Amino acid sequence: MSLQTEIRTQRAQELIQNTFGADRDLAGEYPLVFDPTFSGSLVGLEHENEVVSACAVLPRDLVLNGWLMRVGLIGSVATHPDHRGQGYAGQLLERAEHVLFHQGAVLSLLWADDAKFYEKKGYVPIGVEIDYKIEMQDAAKLPEALGVRFMQSRDLAEVHALYVRHSHRADRTLAETMALLQGPGITAIVREDEAGAIVSYIVMGRGHDLQGMVHEWGGDTQSVLACVRGLLQCLPEECPGLYLMCPVTSVDMRQTLLDLEIPALEGILGMARIIDMGAMAKIFERFGDARLTVTPEPEGLRLEGPAGSTVLDAQKVLLALMPPQGNRGVVDALETELGLRFDALPLSPFTWGLDSI
Ligand SMILES: CC(C)(COP(=O)(O)OP(=O)(O)OC[C@H]1O[C@@H](n2cnc3c(N)ncnc32)[C@H](O)[C@@H]1OP(=O)(O)O)[C@@H](O)C(=O)NCCC(=O)NCCS
Repeated sequence: MSLQTEIRTQRAQELIQNTFGADRDLAGEYPLVFDPTFSGSLVGLEHENEVVSACAVLPRDLVLNGWLMRVGLIGSVATHPDHRGQGYAGQLLERAEHVLFHQGAVLSLLWADDAKFYEKKGYVPIGVEIDYKIEMQDAAKLPEALGVRFMQSRDLAEVHALYVRHSHRADRTLAETMALLQGPGITAIVREDEAGAIVSYIVMGRGHDLQGMVHEWGGDTQSVLACVRGLLQCLPEECPGLYLMCPVTSVDMRQTLLDLEIPALEGILGMARIIDMGAMAKIFERFGDARLTVTPEPEGLRLEGPAGSTVLDAQKVLLALMPPQGNRGVVDALETELGLRFDALPLSPFTWGLDSI
């Protein structure tokens, strides 16, 4: 006999809460998962009528330059300490991916504290995130913080309108952005123009995570950097500065920070595993030229072009479509081998810090 859904969810939440810190306000940090009005949920695995392993899942449509790709976010993976090392988390991930598949997700995406654990489960790094290191003394290089002030709840709709201007992001409703911005541990700054309209915003910190990191921003580059200067001016003098997260597609911000000689660190977006290979075939067809044929095979996908054919396994498929740090090596090799072009690859999926779970 299995536990009733409601009790299972409650036990899963208790396990996650006990694993990640009884003192943390997880429901406040991750409203899209823990507030039943939003689309996230908890997945639990039972053994002898006890939830032994649990995680959070959240389907998200990633916007890629007007095109949508539904991914499934997985977070807060926890196995009860008495039951670790018995394969429960592996089974849980499979169950979570099954749930996400039925919600239309084509791949699962997570942020790993322990990359090795997820590598063993078939996850690979994908995508790019650029983090700029802005030190206190850099403040003077940035535009003056005119019209800059802390964000207030009356600003949230205008802030959301700036968020949705990003070409690469997770699709969010206004209600979702509002819930996320009202979480604990967040410092948010806006800039107003002379007429009182919000022209930019920045968000630093989120609960225990992302402290010292501006992990979401919106508006024109100069106004965003004016907010950063305003924030630096509020930090204690002994503070080393902050990091600013940036998608590879925000070309104007990247060029401006390069000109200001602000150092950049290139990282990955997260770790992923394909949960719908048929959808991957469609992505190749969409972004390859008309001479490409894609056929699913047991071990992956067969790609065929005028010059030849090749079979890509699941990991190679991700390396071609959304490689770590945007490395185009696999696509370049494919173009030569098949004798055709994938001009729009690789894709640059991106999620801002407020979207992680
Ligand atoms: C990380 C965590 C979720 C793993 O849970 P788990 O149920 O022990 O995981 P699994 O059993 O599936 O896999 C863990 C290990 O057991 C091994 N294993 C898998 N199946 C097994 C089986 N049937 N019998 C014995 N060992 C097994 C795995 O190979 C893996 O080996 P490793 O120790 O060399 O890495 C758990 O340690 C935890 O809750 N940690 C604290 C929270 C945390 O860090 N979460 C991850 C956030 S990113």
